[in-house]
Parts: sequence; C-alpha cells; structure tokens
Amino acid sequence: MNIDEFEGIMKKYGQEAVLDKVREMNEKDRSRILKQCDFLDFSFLKALSAKENVRGKIEPIRTMKLSEISEKKEYFEKLGTEAIKSGKVAALVLAGGMGTRLGSDHAKGMYDIGMTKPVYIFQRMFENLLDVVNKTGAWVPLFIMTSLFNDREIKEFLVEHRCFGYDPRYVKFFVQDMSPCVGIDGNILFCKPDEFAMSPNGNGGFYSSMMSAGLDKYCKENGVEYINVFAVDNVLQRIADPVFVGATIDSGCATGAKVVRKADPGEKVGSICLEDGAPSVVEYYEMTDELLQAKDKDGEPAYEYGVILNYLFRLKEMDGIVRTEMPVHVVKKKVPFLQKSDASSTGYVTVNPEEPNAYKLETLTLDFVRLMGSCLPFEVVREYEFAPIKNAMGIDSVQSARKMLLNIGYEL
Ligand code: UTP
Repeated sequence: MNIDEFEGIMKKYGQEAVLDKVREMNEKDRSRILKQCDFLDFSFLKALSAKENVRGKIEPIRTMKLSEISEKKEYFEKLGTEAIKSGKVAALVLAGGMGTRLGSDHAKGMYDIGMTKPVYIFQRMFENLLDVVNKTGAWVPLFIMTSLFNDREIKEFLVEHRCFGYDPRYVKFFVQDMSPCVGIDGNILFCKPDEFAMSPNGNGGFYSSMMSAGLDKYCKENGVEYINVFAVDNVLQRIADPVFVGATIDSGCATGAKVVRKADPGEKVGSICLEDGAPSVVEYYEMTDELLQAKDKDGEPAYEYGVILNYLFRLKEMDGIVRTEMPVHVVKKKVPFLQKSDASSTGYVTVNPEEPNAYKLETLTLDFVRLMGSCLPFEVVREYEFAPIKNAMGIDSVQSARKMLLNIGYEL
C-alpha cells in the first residue's frame, strides 16, 4: 500500500494520531508498516463507531429433537451418505484462532491431550472424519483455515504426522485475513516500532478467505454443494455426519446447526432462536433475564438449545452473502503492545497486559445462520458430541474433555 492510500484509510476511520506516527517514522520502518497494511482489513474499524447491536424480536425456534431424529435416522443417513458419496459435502475446520485461554504457544490443534500416550486435538479431528470415510467409502475434502500466526506450524505438524492417516490429496489449507487491534483510546496499537498489533479476523472470516484462496471455485468444479464448518477444539466433533447432512438436505433449509440442550441457562453457548421471524443465534452475554426464564408452549425453557459451532451451509446461498454484510464484533482481549520508555535503549518496551486492554475486531460464523435465511436446529447428545477445549482446567477444558473421552471408552 502506498502512503496516499494509507492516509485515505486512516482519515476515513479517525486514525489521524496513527497516521502522524507513521509519517514521523524513518523510511525503512514506514515501508515495513505499509507492507503489512496490504494484508490487514481496515474496513473492520467501522465497528468502532457503529451503534450498539440492537436485537430484533426474539422468539423460540422449533428444534428437531432426538426422538424425531431417531425415528427417521435410517432415511436421513441414506440421504446424507448419498450426498457424501457423490462428493457434495466438504468439511472446513476453523483453526485460525489464537487459543489464548488455553495458553499454549502453538496452534490449538497441536495440543496433546493424551495421558499415557500422545493424543493431539488434530488427531481426534482426523479420527472422527475417518469414521465417516470408512463408513461411506468416500473421502470428504477437508479445508483447514489457519492464520498468519500458525499456518506454517500447522502445515509442518500435519506433514510430520501424515495427516493422521487422511489422504493428503483431500486436505487443502487457506489462511484467514487479519484485522488491526485497537487500544481503549480507539487508536490502532503497535506491537513493534514498524508493525501494528493484529489478530485473525474472527471465525466468520472463513468464507471470504476461502474465496480469496480460490476454494469456492474448487467447490464448484468438484460438485461440492455443502460445507460442514466446525471448531477445531471439540474433540468429540462428528464431522460430515451423514444423519445430520441428510436431515438438513431433507429440511430444504440453507443451514443445519447442531445444538445441545444447555447444561444450565447461563452456559456460555449461543442460543438458537428466531429473530424477527428468521433463524438466529443470541450470544450468551446477550440473554436477558426475560429470555432466560421464558417458556415455550409446552412449558419447557424457550431457549434451551445452544449451538456447538458445527454447521452445514449450502454454498448456493453463501455465494449471495457479501462480505460487507457480516457484522463486525468488538471483543475486549489481552493484546501485547508497544509503549514509550526512557529506560529502554530503543525508547520502547513491549507490555504484556494482565487484563484485557484492547479490542479485537471479529466476524462470527454464527451470524451466517441469520444471513442464510433458513436453518434446521438439530439436537445432538452432549456426551457423544460436545467436548470443547477452551481452558486448561475447569469448565470446557482439557480436564473435562479427557473425562468425556474416557467415558465413551477412548484410550488416552
Ligand atoms: P474461540 O472463539 O473459542 O477462540 O474459537 P480461540 O482462538 O480458540 O480461543 P481464545 O478465545 O483465544 O481462548 C472457536 C473456533 O473458532 C476458531 C478457533 O480456532 C476455534 O476453532 N477461530 C477463532 C478461527 O479459526 N479464527 C479466529 O479468528 C477465531
């Protein structure tokens, strides 16, 4: 990017103070930072001046419950298996996250949760996907979304482990875009004298980054009609599950969302609902007391199903969703930044904050549920399908996931 373009962008988003700093830099530093700007999405800065996201009218949505699924299981499974065999289904793992809560120095998928032998999070993913390959006799293309921070190590790790037995011809990587991190004062932070602090642009960035990498073309050329998007960190994840695929196709909906009955009303998962009559997801922190206590017509909690970040999206409808439609969420997190210091010979020190000190700008996959227009909420059993690893200990942790794996007889 040249300095004139940069100036235009900084002025557009009220970043004059940052512009002044860049102008004052020596030529070498300035040219480095302008180079970094080529792969930063500054349009996300619009979220800082946007009005607070006001939710529409929230109402309960009908969920396909376990009993109904069990009655039609054979039919759904046949339909889903046919779709997988004819190459209509691909899988996409969101592996671009920073995993800050887990606190590992490496990508989350490389984390070893074994107790007596190595068992990596990525290994669990491939094992789960191989179940479907072995059952249907068809390879499911797997797209792996990485970030600039972990792309190289993920690729090297999977080469070293030979994709845990998965045919590498069906594994495709793409890197998600980055967005700048912003301090509490609204100005973009620096992490080095010649570099802005940046972070991956949220898991909702998968479709635009997939397009930039040409994978939408791959899908069209290879007859892929659905993608199963899922989080890397759920070690019980069922991927390209034929019953789920069949049920979503049968429903005619553009999206299928796997949901679990919430462990308690305040569980930190988004609740599936209708918003102004269309399927949507309300985040746990947006749930009011009224919503938490609401009952449906059968007297059951109205919003008792939570999404587990496992969606089936029909590509036909995704094509129509342009990137600019995606809401950008402003999330307060810990971001290391550069501060002036008389004590340092360079005049600067890097501060590693103990508490959240900055805003990351992210799009979220769950917003596709609303944008896609129709959705089948599909209930799954938590004990078999939902063991997310967010923390080292406690709720949604390595500890809780190990316990769940041991409970289903998996050796760790
Ligand atoms: P989380 O929101 O739990 O984030 O991501 P995280 O990065 O794993 O962990 P924390 O919040 O820093 O502790 C849910 C899923 O979305 C992916 C993650 O890799 C995980 O699979 N993700 C998240 C991305 O692929 N890109 C992102 O920018 C953010």
